[in-house]
Amino acid sequence: MKISRVALKNWRNFKSVDVQLQDRQFIIGPNASGKSNFLDAFRFLRDIARPDGGGVQKAVADRGGLSKLRCLSARTDPEVRLVLELRSEGDSPDQWVYEIGIRQQPRGRREVYVSHESVTKNGDQLMLRPNEEDSEDDVRLTQSFLEQVNENRSFRELATFLEGVTYLHLVPQLLRYSDEFQGRVLEADPFGQSLLERIAKTPKKTQKARLRRIAQALKSALPQLRELQFEKDEVTGRPHLAALYDHWRPNAARQREDQFSDGTLRLIGLLWSLTEGDSLLLLEEPELSLNAAIVGRMAPLIYRMQKSRKRQVVVSTHSVDLLRDPGVRPNEVLLLEPSKEGTSVTPLSEMQDIRRLMDAGMTAGEVALPRTAPKQLQLFSF
Ligand SMILES: Nc1ncnc2c1ncn2[C@@H]1O[C@H](COP(=O)(O)OP(=O)(O)O)[C@@H](O)[C@H]1O
Ligand SMILES: [Mg+2]
Repeated sequence: MKISRVALKNWRNFKSVDVQLQDRQFIIGPNASGKSNFLDAFRFLRDIARPDGGGVQKAVADRGGLSKLRCLSARTDPEVRLVLELRSEGDSPDQWVYEIGIRQQPRGRREVYVSHESVTKNGDQLMLRPNEEDSEDDVRLTQSFLEQVNENRSFRELATFLEGVTYLHLVPQLLRYSDEFQGRVLEADPFGQSLLERIAKTPKKTQKARLRRIAQALKSALPQLRELQFEKDEVTGRPHLAALYDHWRPNAARQREDQFSDGTLRLIGLLWSLTEGDSLLLLEEPELSLNAAIVGRMAPLIYRMQKSRKRQVVVSTHSVDLLRDPGVRPNEVLLLEPSKEGTSVTPLSEMQDIRRLMDAGMTAGEVALPRTAPKQLQLFSF
């Protein structure tokens, strides 16, 4: 499945947004323009759908309550609403629409409840709430049908897709020193701490095939890399990655992940995630700690990995280099622009001036990223 359109109403700093999504989608915008908030809309739906203790109540509570989520410039209409349009893959693709509206009781216990929920498949309504039973017992509205296995049977495919949404903001230090930190791994592992355990759990044959593909792809960024291997420490039993490098010495040099550079680790995490599932993958600023030449290869790398594994990817970024590839089309970049009435989200393909420059051969990075620089920046110079 792929998400083809997303509409947000009163979601954090987005008062009203309605945009198409491509299979590879970059999100750019100034600091605090809402890039992470945009990604969080998909994580929020995942948190509702997950069967291991998900649900609307927890997803809202984990974000500090509905008053934190609801757009501050929402005035007369206090409902938070998210709409996804999705299409399944295959010869006769299905068109799905999922909608959820959430409100809070204005008085009394001020409970958070589902004010609207609906699913359509190829235009047929499979579910619409509130329904008759909801009006007889309004406690039912404290849960969505998406989170209930008994209620989501007719749209299980959609629920499973949302459950599989992955967010990755890999922090190399957490992965490298996981033993020393003995840190708690957060639910859904957003910082990639358990990457090695995940690789360890993958069946041997698949694991080998994936590492081979990753090493192959990495070669375009790290030409000295010869091979990537998975191994278990004989003494401690802990999982490790080892890379063989062609070196100036006759024998290739060997390194373990604690010696990898931050950039290498982030690239491996990214590429592994691309091969790991088939639901939406959210990547937060993947350019961090990578040099410009490698970042410049990332967009085509994602594209190439997608060809075999068809995973939709939404990437937030600040990097001109990431958008340097001439293959990045104007509709693959969404520009976030804050205003008093909430942030707007516009595909570059809808901005005439930018389109003209891109048609003339300039890259998305060159024409669009300057728009995300703070207007007052000259104040910081001497
Ligand atoms: N409920 C809300 N209503 C309006 N603005 C909000 C709300 N919640 C968060 N924000 C704003 O969103 C901004 C942060 O967005 P974020 O997604 O972290 O930006 P980015 O990732 O682009 O740097 C902050 O300026 C914050 O004030
Ligand atoms: Mg952010």
